[in-house]
Amino acid sequence: MTSFKLNGRAFSVDADEETPLLWIIRDEANLTGTKYGCGIGMCGACTVHIGGEAVRSCVTPLVAVEGEEVTTIEGLDPNDSHPVQKAWQDLQVPQCGYCQSGQIMQAAAILKDDPDISDEDIDAFMTGNLCRCMTYTRIRTAMRRAADAMKGG
Ligand code: FES
Ligand code: FES
Repeated sequence: MTSFKLNGRAFSVDADEETPLLWIIRDEANLTGTKYGCGIGMCGACTVHIGGEAVRSCVTPLVAVEGEEVTTIEGLDPNDSHPVQKAWQDLQVPQCGYCQSGQIMQAAAILKDDPDISDEDIDAFMTGNLCRCMTYTRIRTAMRRAADAMKGG
């Protein structure tokens, strides 16, 4: 049995400890906002937070989250109104939407640590989150808006 906090609540699961966290989140916890893209840590669609840091859940074994705090897109904000989510909504960032929960989780983790982040650093930190719909320009603009909101500006 592996136990951890999932979106603020205690969660335990009886599964092989090498099972990728992504499948625990989707198939055992039935939280399907976190997406499968590549399965090898190269696209960012499966990004969640562990202890507030962005990680790729497809390459994170269940055993790695024992006792940790895991947050998915469903738990980022109780009202789905995190500054990043609000900026995404205001600027209508998503196209097909498939990559976007991963984009939001990656962005939220970065902006929490550094709301004064430069455009160059935004590009560097987001480079591993791929979007086949090419929403990159809107993502950057939304991140700037969210960063301003998180600074109270
Ligand atoms: S599905 Fe995890 S990085 Fe692509
Ligand atoms: S919005 Fe379609 S893959 Fe990013």
